[in-house]
Amino acid sequence: MARKADEPLVLGIETSCDETGVGIVRGHTLLADAVASSVDEHARFGGVVPEVASRAHLEAMVPTIQRALKEAGVSAKDLDGIAVTAGPGLAGALLVGVSAAKAYAYALGKPLYGVNHLASHICVDQLEHGALPEPTMALLVSGGHSSLLLAPDITADVRPLGSTIDDAAGEAFDKIARVLNLGFPGGPVIDRYAREGDPDAIRFPRGLTGPRDPIYDFSFSGLKTAVARWIEARRAAGENVPVADVAASFQEAVVDVLTRKAVRACKDHGVDHLMIGGGVAANTRLRAMAQRRCEDAGITLRVPRPKLCTDNGAMVAALGAEMVARGRAASSWDLSADSSLPVTETHVPGHDHEDDHDHGHSHGHGHGHSHDHDHVHELSKQNLYE
Ligand code: KG4
Ligand code: ZN
Repeated sequence: MARKADEPLVLGIETSCDETGVGIVRGHTLLADAVASSVDEHARFGGVVPEVASRAHLEAMVPTIQRALKEAGVSAKDLDGIAVTAGPGLAGALLVGVSAAKAYAYALGKPLYGVNHLASHICVDQLEHGALPEPTMALLVSGGHSSLLLAPDITADVRPLGSTIDDAAGEAFDKIARVLNLGFPGGPVIDRYAREGDPDAIRFPRGLTGPRDPIYDFSFSGLKTAVARWIEARRAAGENVPVADVAASFQEAVVDVLTRKAVRACKDHGVDHLMIGGGVAANTRLRAMAQRRCEDAGITLRVPRPKLCTDNGAMVAALGAEMVARGRAASSWDLSADSSLPVTETHVPGHDHEDDHDHGHSHGHGHGHSHDHDHVHELSKQNLYE
């Protein structure tokens, strides 16, 4: 198989939450980033409903793959590999992506790479700012995760330094927006209101910043309660709630803690690059404060454009391409979705299934499906693409 080892052409599939993302990259170059979101279907429930998400992925999958191939102007048969989020995420949602990736990889005779969602959030920055420095410090903040990760090698070595002990940062934005009756998702709307408000109007608590608290862990539950109580007290007294000031002061508390801990982690570990990813990285105040604090500390800040920060397929393709470029082992055909895949497992390697084609031996996980059904393989290839 023709393979440009330095610039692999990889398609990535992401279905860990409510976005069906299909991206295509060539090495560090973004060729397509097709996303179908079911966020509107969840809005009336005030959060993501797993069953609704799974069904939406199923419906969006094939059209989104086709849209990505068209957008990239490449043919599926030219791909060097297919990558997919194997976890962490919603089990049913992940399963749709993993099944699709397997079907396409198998039908096309391409290696399959089951990769880690969090490592993908970091790796996507290669599409924006080129090769990731090694090591890179990463602050990942979204509706599902808030973590500080040290990444000496994004394909094989990612170390968790800290994470939230209760709510994720984005979840706190969503909950406060609900208390303020601003709708879902809460991040973008709080960001907008906060621009008109005073961040110092109300001094909300900074979670886990005491001298005896864990240095790199986060907690947003106490902040959430404090903000909700403050609002309730105003309402009970029959006073108006100053929405812009509450939004700005709440946002300031979140952003202050996130940036303080991230810069501290860089200093403690002698790392001079910080990347910020995940949906909350779209926050304008977070970007501005991180920029200022990084500059003061001599740290280079890397934040991808907002569309690459939220869940998307390009990030999965970016990590898949890096796996191919570095010769990492492909996943086996019995790859399964793992809703709680640890961040230390950057990908889910198996035996190199190309070996099976070439040498006819099968090894590995004892499920008995070695890859000697080339007739099926050729047939499906024709049905799908010719
Ligand atoms: O990465 P993402 O799209 O999905 C998850 O994996 O969760 O992140 C979505 C989260 C939501 O909680 C949303 O409120 C938050 O990111 N978010 C923001 C902003 N844009 C999105 N939070 C703060 N400020 C924003 N501008
Ligand atoms: Zn995510």
